[in-house]
Amino acid sequence: MYIYLLLIFIILIIVFVVWALFKRKQGVCPFCILKQFMFPSKITMNIPKGEFYQGGDAKTPPMGWSSWNTFRNHIDEKLILETADALVKTGLADAGYKYINLDDCWHSSLRDENGRLQGDLVRFSSGIDTLSRKIRSKGLKIGLYSSNGDYTCEDLPASLGNEKTDAETFAEWGVEYFKYDFCHNIKIPSAAPLISAIEIKNGDKLTVIPAEKARLSGLAKLDKSKKLPGKYYISLLGHGKGSAVFEYESDSDCECDVTLCIRKKGGFEKYIVIQSGDKYYELFVPYTKTWTVDGRYQIKINVKKGKNELKFFNPVCTRADSAYIQYKRMGEALRKASDGSITYSICEWGRNKPADWAWNTGNLWRISGDIIPNWRWINHIYNMNIKLSEFAGPGHWNDPDMLEVGNGKLTFEENKTHFTLWCMMASPLILGNDIRKLIENPDDEILGILKNKELIAINQDELGKQCVRYKKTAKADYLYKPLSGNRVAVCIFNRKNRNSLVAFSSSDIPDNDKYGCMTFRNVFTSETIKNDCKISVFAHGSVVFIGE
Ligand code: GLA
Repeated sequence: MYIYLLLIFIILIIVFVVWALFKRKQGVCPFCILKQFMFPSKITMNIPKGEFYQGGDAKTPPMGWSSWNTFRNHIDEKLILETADALVKTGLADAGYKYINLDDCWHSSLRDENGRLQGDLVRFSSGIDTLSRKIRSKGLKIGLYSSNGDYTCEDLPASLGNEKTDAETFAEWGVEYFKYDFCHNIKIPSAAPLISAIEIKNGDKLTVIPAEKARLSGLAKLDKSKKLPGKYYISLLGHGKGSAVFEYESDSDCECDVTLCIRKKGGFEKYIVIQSGDKYYELFVPYTKTWTVDGRYQIKINVKKGKNELKFFNPVCTRADSAYIQYKRMGEALRKASDGSITYSICEWGRNKPADWAWNTGNLWRISGDIIPNWRWINHIYNMNIKLSEFAGPGHWNDPDMLEVGNGKLTFEENKTHFTLWCMMASPLILGNDIRKLIENPDDEILGILKNKELIAINQDELGKQCVRYKKTAKADYLYKPLSGNRVAVCIFNRKNRNSLVAFSSSDIPDNDKYGCMTFRNVFTSETIKNDCKISVFAHGSVVFIGE
């Protein structure tokens, strides 16, 4: 038995060594490939701490409505305009809900003759530009959706590779909120091309710099070409593990034509970033058939008069690195196109641990898969999000997804708690119900929840803190959210399926003496409570107190 296991082990080692040697011959680091597949959601790139995305209007969590939760792919301009009217008539707009977000399926499967996205030719026949103007004339803002892939989740054209054009189109239409999904995403390759030389054409002057002249660092290595006698190429520039710097002396500032001369190897796509000064350029090298051994790829790069350093590297190891670069690319395109006025919502469902990087690329990021109006699932999303408090702050928010308040079969208490938890967690408040139904009945209990001034004020508090769970008992979760003016919001959430009596003591609240609260006022009943008391909370219900 043991001898067989040993034999299998030895065979596996031999297979691994042969595979590793083969990969090394293709100029790729074999251990990096293992890492790439073993930890796909781990970001390996260095994201500068404290450098937050410098665009969007999200000092407090964004508030609005989105078409997806209720209407999915059945949207048209009549529905959207009726909803915009309803937002105003119900007083929801005055309560702070400003965005009318068209989620997936607002657009046609055809791009226009200039390659630009356009509204569904039948359902949005007046054009998104006109719709946007109408929405804005009501004092509201319009949001649109696309995906960081070839297609959206509903298989309509999306923006990966079209970032600049699409961002410019959205900005031209006056779009002020943009949600960017992750369906049909294509990972950026982690392998880098094998560089044998670079050629720089500046006016009439052509400068050729061979691989041997480059300054290498990390794993990057100079290999002798067997097929091209006398020639060398640089390998192991991939997976964020190596770089090559070419020095170039320029007679003038110029946008030069740079040719990357490569040694073709490996039937897989490759990717390289070229840094010149503070500018970054991306170049994709396709899958090769290797009919010939060398290839040439060209790119325009800005250099300045005098000494330049062109740095070649591929920082992408994992899927998370790739997502970061792609989301950042769109964020920068939006910022440029709109002068920073578009709020940027990243939606990759938490697959790449966005809390580790998305604050650098956008204003909010989904932390989970899609919400549904089901209590267990809402509770599950809350449980994920409550652990991410430290990552939220003004301009950058965890997004546990749009609200399901008023949808499905949630009870009144569940609707109320769902909204309360989202307010406590400083989550974006994007309504997902059919608000047209609320116009006729201003006393509707759902409308009452959604317009609760105190809860909205807690959510929108300028300190921008996400609540922390400071205590968990068998029955209840205890949350606290520091507020401006030395106040604090405390929420007790009864997780149980039955009404419960829960204990409250202000001395449990972290940093309680800092707030020096004299009273705790129930935001639903306005009653104040004494310290060290017992409170009755409905099944799946919650109570919220403001300590002031
Ligand atoms: C994904 C997103 C949803 C919604 C749909 C649209 O599932 O997570 O929020 O945008 O796509 O197709």
